[in-house]
Amino acid sequence: MSVQATLSGVTAAGVPVVDGIPFARTGREELQGRVADLLADGEVDRARVALFADADDWWTEPAPPAEQLAQVPAARTLREAMDTLGMGRVGDYFAHRWSDPTHLAGLALLGRHWPGDAPVVDVACGIGTQLRELARRGVADLVGLDVVWSKLWLARRFVCPTARYVCADVTTAPDLQVTGPAYVTCHDAFYFFRDKPAAAAAMTRLAGLEGTVVVGHAHVADPHGAPLPPQDYARLLHATVLYDDEELTRSLLERRPPRPAPAEELVGSEAIALVAGDLRGPAPVDLGEPLEPLRPNPLYTDGRLHWPSERYAAEYGPRSAHLPDRWPDPLPADAARRRLLVDLPEQW
Ligand SMILES: C[S@@+](CC[C@H](N)C(=O)[O-])C[C@H]1O[C@@H](n2cnc3c(N)ncnc32)[C@H](O)[C@@H]1O
Repeated sequence: MSVQATLSGVTAAGVPVVDGIPFARTGREELQGRVADLLADGEVDRARVALFADADDWWTEPAPPAEQLAQVPAARTLREAMDTLGMGRVGDYFAHRWSDPTHLAGLALLGRHWPGDAPVVDVACGIGTQLRELARRGVADLVGLDVVWSKLWLARRFVCPTARYVCADVTTAPDLQVTGPAYVTCHDAFYFFRDKPAAAAAMTRLAGLEGTVVVGHAHVADPHGAPLPPQDYARLLHATVLYDDEELTRSLLERRPPRPAPAEELVGSEAIALVAGDLRGPAPVDLGEPLEPLRPNPLYTDGRLHWPSERYAAEYGPRSAHLPDRWPDPLPADAARRRLLVDLPEQW
């Protein structure tokens, strides 16, 4: 299948493409067929709505009615689109990704093992937060892969329009047409994969012999998803460098390189990061400093920090010492590094 697909249509391999995003997710053959039929009848809007209704296997809420999903393309902002898609807690997570400690850990990891001019595949890229950072820092060859089509649609529309996107499971993805040794990254998602040996093998294959595989925020002690012990992650990925996720976040905030740790020392960590293959060098720029234009972190209203939900507060509150309860006046010199000021997408 060509991922340089036309905006909407069906590829020679029978994969439906809507708004430039192929839907090659396996286990969804009925939906694939239905979308292809709608496209054959010229019903692009209905095909898009059918794809908007699809979710990942961990999602527990029913899809909103078709009439509501049909309104998504008219949304003026990322949050409005996520509300209309009925994304609930996942919408909160993505809306505030720019200051959460897991995202900062991911930036520290990218900053220490920078792709340079290698093509990048972001596996389970969500709405493209990491791709946007890479694009804005000059990385040009970007592919985002995720099982949820609507997330890729949000990425393309609101977050990182310059990347190519393919909707597929990492273990059964079509040829992504990536040339040369690749930099394959997967942040805050590897622990979700049910068949981790197959996912690790697919990512290693995608990276190629001289490529790099970087897995960020893989749960160990955090029970969400299907976590593994550090040694098991390292063995599956052939990783040679490991980090505690908290250490990564701290290093970004403290403006220093992160310290790796042996797998045995990480058994009690909530989450870890792993690097395999070509370790590559540090980024030429400090990813701790977000790029202009910066806006006040929208978690602050009326001078106070307000978490978007109790669930979000329970997960990120205890790990977000960089965000004080009250908006500091005057702002500290490191306000941007601490994400009191954030580089939100233009149409956030
Ligand atoms: C917690 S989100 C992380 C998103 C993004 N990497 C980030 O850091 O913002 C996990 C993502 O994994 C995706 N996902 C889950 N299982 C997958 C699979 N088998 N193949 C590809 N993506 C998958 C979900 O749709 C979701 O977007």
